[in-house]
Amino acid sequence: MEFFATSGSPEKARSSCAIAGVFQDGRLSSVAKRLDKASGGVIGRTVRRGDIAGKPGDVLLLTNLDGLKTQRVLLVGCGPQKSFGARQYRKALEAALGAIARTSIRDAVSYLSCESVSGTDSYYLARYGVEAAHEALYRFLELKTEGDDRPPALGKLGFAVNAREALADAERGVAHGAAIVIGMELTRRLGNLPPNICTPAYLADRARQLAREEKKIATRIVDEAAMKKLGMGGLLAVTSASDQPAKLIVIEYRGGANGTAPVALVGKGVTFDTGGISIKPAAAMDEMKFDMCGAASVFGTLLALARLELPLNVVGIVPTCENMPGGTATRPGDIVRTMSGRTVEILNTDAEGRMILCDALTYARRFNPETVIDIATLTGACVIALGTHITGLMSNDETLAGELLEAGGNADDRAWRLPLGEEYAEQLKSNFADLANVAGREGGAITAACFLAKFTDGLRWAHLDVAGTAYRSGKQKGATGRPVPLLMEFLIQRANGAR
Ligand code: BES
Ligand code: MN
Ligand code: ZN
Repeated sequence: MEFFATSGSPEKARSSCAIAGVFQDGRLSSVAKRLDKASGGVIGRTVRRGDIAGKPGDVLLLTNLDGLKTQRVLLVGCGPQKSFGARQYRKALEAALGAIARTSIRDAVSYLSCESVSGTDSYYLARYGVEAAHEALYRFLELKTEGDDRPPALGKLGFAVNAREALADAERGVAHGAAIVIGMELTRRLGNLPPNICTPAYLADRARQLAREEKKIATRIVDEAAMKKLGMGGLLAVTSASDQPAKLIVIEYRGGANGTAPVALVGKGVTFDTGGISIKPAAAMDEMKFDMCGAASVFGTLLALARLELPLNVVGIVPTCENMPGGTATRPGDIVRTMSGRTVEILNTDAEGRMILCDALTYARRFNPETVIDIATLTGACVIALGTHITGLMSNDETLAGELLEAGGNADDRAWRLPLGEEYAEQLKSNFADLANVAGREGGAITAACFLAKFTDGLRWAHLDVAGTAYRSGKQKGATGRPVPLLMEFLIQRANGAR
């Protein structure tokens, strides 16, 4: 898909389709008014006749309008004008592109970005626009051999701005958005691939491919023999009953000056989580193929970074394995020694994410990172606490927490902070080891983060629990690509020297 920004006038622009807004109660947007005037009042008459009311999601395709260079005008409902903000803008564009995706239209220009959208600017409108296009047009079809799902014909989409002075900002927004959706596409694909294909070895191969294709990326794979030498008892305990060998994948992006401390992104890569001996119930267990979405978001972020060539050093660290039951499985009650030297009593083998992450976090120290962010579908409790709209954020650093919250807000990929605390950490006491891997049902998202916090002493660290946001269940089941937009916004701000 090709994206561009344009400042041409809507009346004169040649395209297959111009997308223009209609607000609640049939009030024409500024561009719809201009198109109406140039076409002799057809649009106004159509709207007054009641063919489109302007409610969010309404769409109406008009063709053969005299006086316009565009072949079609797609009117899209935008809701009340006074509450037209970034969210409403995205939803309207998604509705418009959803309608276009069902036609054979190959190119279009959106004029929604010419309206005044409260609380945002040309840069973010273009970037959100590209992301909305990705949301509306993304399909995961590679494993279907029949059925009428086809990739949409739309291959080129423009975003219009009112004034020439806004064009450079919009172009930057388009470029950033395009890189972000390339990253999200990879993240979603890896998440959506089934667990018999997307194994730890598959992820390792995909990481090697990243290094082949992106000249600033280098990849290294730590195998099980090396994990044993490193003393990664947490990761090895989780993988012990799997026939698929575990991998620790290291993906280095070097866009910054030599010797500049990197940001480390650590992603949970459990390619299938049965729960192990503490086995999960059968219902919806298939969704535990998404338990590597944290890892997938690290892949996607590194790819997006490489495409944008941001002047930063970032290292992705992905511990990946399967959590299976079996004769060689870890038993509830087993005690293992982690790479940090701490011993952990594994009281519940389904709390496996923290067991692989603790070793990956310890491993991250060898890069002397200035910041460490882990991303994990870590707890069902986080989904209970925050639902599926907002990512859980926990951090031992106030500034970092603030930066990530702000990045989530800017990127429209929000996070919400939950606390850490000694009271919670005390729930992790074990009678037999330094630490237990579970702490009861209450505050489960927080106690999981407190477990990780035991391994991040002295690091500037944040944890993103994406159990609710990285994928959708139900009819729309599939990976979302989150939190790639949040992470990219955080890194873009950093590259801008904002901090
Ligand atoms: N991968 C799950 C967390 C999860 C649950 C993600 C539901 C998405 C949806 C994780 O490994 C897990 O099983 N966590 C347990 C922890 C418990 C045993 C302390 C959970 O959340 O129940
Ligand atoms: Mn689990
Ligand atoms: Zn899990």
